[in-house]
Amino acid sequence: MSSLREFEERARERLGRVHYDYFAGGAGDEVTLRANESAFGRLALVPRVLRGAAKVRLDVTLLGCRASMPVLVAPTAFHRLADPEGERATARAAAAAETIMIVSMASTVAVEEVAAAAPEAVLWFQLYVQPDLAFTERVVRRAEDAGCRALVVTVDSPARGRREREVRHGFDDLPEGLCCENLRDEDGGVRPIVMSPGVSWEHLDLIREFTALPIVLKGVLHPEDARLAVERGVAALIVSNHGGRQLDAVPATADLLPEIVAAVGGAVPVLLDGGVRRGTDVLKALALGAGAVAIGRPVIWGLAADGERGAGRVLETLRAETEHALVLCGCASPDDLGPDMVRRTGAADVVGPAW
Ligand code: FNR
Repeated sequence: MSSLREFEERARERLGRVHYDYFAGGAGDEVTLRANESAFGRLALVPRVLRGAAKVRLDVTLLGCRASMPVLVAPTAFHRLADPEGERATARAAAAAETIMIVSMASTVAVEEVAAAAPEAVLWFQLYVQPDLAFTERVVRRAEDAGCRALVVTVDSPARGRREREVRHGFDDLPEGLCCENLRDEDGGVRPIVMSPGVSWEHLDLIREFTALPIVLKGVLHPEDARLAVERGVAALIVSNHGGRQLDAVPATADLLPEIVAAVGGAVPVLLDGGVRRGTDVLKALALGAGAVAIGRPVIWGLAADGERGAGRVLETLRAETEHALVLCGCASPDDLGPDMVRRTGAADVVGPAW
């Protein structure tokens, strides 16, 4: 398979309709879901020439963690629906690619087991703040003890997005034998994840009292919130609309990125996820000021297509494309990219070749 879109085709064949739709779907009319990809289609790259960039390097360092390329694994739920090894396989693939995996709170393998399966992996842990703060603290402690190096607090989910594909299929729970292992309580029972509209900046301050891990805010879209986050001492931001799965009609992340980068003014790294499917998408995001990007669904497509090997091939495909695009842009490293190399074209938002 030569591109990320081909992995999706293979995954679609293997997953069955209900689970494919769970992974692929977005909220409402899926306007935001489509916008994420098509926004990249409307951006063009303007390469530089004759810069003698003979040797290319892709590695980046984020919050003290090295990644061999500016492409991270976004936190996504329920990997065991895609492959029996689930998040263990994903972590091994991320470790082999030497990039950072953000383990979802809704992982179907406990964070301790994910870490044990891939001791070389650099893991960050994604958290939905639970109204029961004592329970939240226990979950964070488990992630710390498992060796996670940052806490990614997802803030775009005061309620669960309404994904109509799931409603149509009646998909509202995991099959027998699978559960969100990070939500296991002291008595062995598994709590449901609560998405609470009551979560506020004060909760963030409370979390900081019980963990020394750097805090990354995921799901910031308004520049004023980006400024507030920096004021509150967050270590990094992820511009994310949850892959179009929360509030539909939200702009594409690639379109919002420049405003957020301007608001943050270089104070902390700004990452982006949503719709990244090509190495050229990675370059466009970096040129507009992202420190790195993360991919969600493509990793799942790799996992469903061919387990750990498939997830690894997705990461290596994107690495190869990113490196190739950097060379063609006359750049020796991501640092050589800048907003002067991107144009908004308004061109037709066609994504991917028609097979
Ligand atoms: C997600 N995402 C997500 N985010 C998060 O913070 N915690 C989570 O548990 C999940 N779970 C999840 C499940 C599935 C099936 C998808 C597709 C997405 C959102 C994810 O981290 C990321 O923001 C998007 O997936 C990025 O968009 P792309 O790369 O999928 O287009």
